Amino acid sequence: MKKITVLPGDGIGPEITREAVLLIEETAEKYGNEFTFQYEDIGGAAVDKHGTPLPQHTVDACRESDAILLGAVGGPKWDKEEASRRPEAGLLGIRKALKLFANLRPINVYPSLLDSSPVRPEIVKNADLLIIRELTGGLYFGTPRERRTGKYGTEAVDTLYYNEAEIERILRKAFELSRFRSKKVTSVDKANVLESSRLWRETADRLAPEYPDVSLEHMLVDNAAMQLIRDPAQFDVMVTENMFGDILSDEASMITGSLGMLPSASIGSEGPGLYEPVHGSAPDIAGENKANPLAAFSSAAMLLKYSFNMAGEAAAIEKAIKTTLDQGYRTQDIAGKGEKVLSTKEMGKAVRSFLPEHA
Ligand code: NAI
Ligand code: MG
Repeated sequence: MKKITVLPGDGIGPEITREAVLLIEETAEKYGNEFTFQYEDIGGAAVDKHGTPLPQHTVDACRESDAILLGAVGGPKWDKEEASRRPEAGLLGIRKALKLFANLRPINVYPSLLDSSPVRPEIVKNADLLIIRELTGGLYFGTPRERRTGKYGTEAVDTLYYNEAEIERILRKAFELSRFRSKKVTSVDKANVLESSRLWRETADRLAPEYPDVSLEHMLVDNAAMQLIRDPAQFDVMVTENMFGDILSDEASMITGSLGMLPSASIGSEGPGLYEPVHGSAPDIAGENKANPLAAFSSAAMLLKYSFNMAGEAAAIEKAIKTTLDQGYRTQDIAGKGEKVLSTKEMGKAVRSFLPEHA
């Protein structure tokens, strides 16, 4: 019996996670798996109920579960809260508490949605990559990190720090995960300028012989930014440090053109992984049964695949999503002119109906 902690969060979070849970349950029925779901508060919802965006109870429940499914956090209601009571603090806090150092963002393009990409269809049509971003180190966490008065008046400093162990564990994740894919890793750095990048590159080269079936290439980050638009299909697994990954993964998400479609996972060396859509809480459409649940569904597929080793079940969900789109089912965010628009619940029902039978 696998235990999934569900953190619905704010805005459209509860609506899309509800559908994702129904989909997981339907999959479980078809494949004969058993899951239990435990619901906990995070983000603004937790601030309202418990006075903190990350109650200890939520952390404990996550620790004791096998995987975590999150909706989204945040919204204008809490924008004036002090830093420690802001919804985002809940998300950063849970990632930290569970030592989730690897952020996985698969980018795949659905043939029936090619037109929604700002990049030409013939360029994006074969794009299928996984960006792995280091999530707990680098420029966003290095010290010193301060504002101070110096010789030239006010000055500010941030520090890009990585130790070898931090680099090694994220690169190992990339090598290992590439074995589920086409076994090509592109390590992105700025080794022509940054010392931390030179250590990154040396570490990749040192580890590579341990993964002889995987091919490793290095690419400078500025070139990678270009190549993502010029020819995204050349990439399979791309691994990089925190800030480069933040920027490149947002750039790559635009290849597909639809934010409502993209899943993500944050995983550590052991313990539960956390799965969530890339998009936010969409306060503008919250509570209206309009949100696109497909990113949450893909996140559920990642959960089954990476945390439970249920590749067949994950593939079944991905196939059902593809069929749903091929059949012309659309929520408002991805509907073209004149296309029929489904609600969140109708979309959920459609995807469940297209789940293939277990062979
Ligand atoms: P957002 O992703 O929530 O919304 C951007 C636009 O995309 C909106 O027009 C929204 O309606 C639309 N959209 C997003 N997801 C959709 C879906 N599933 N179906 C249909 N339309 C969708 O980003 P925004 O507006 O910048 O942020 C809103 C709130 O979400 C903020 O409080 C922000 O801090 C938070 N946020 C939370 C994240 C998380 O929980 N991981 C990530 C990004 C933002
Ligand atoms: Mg970002």
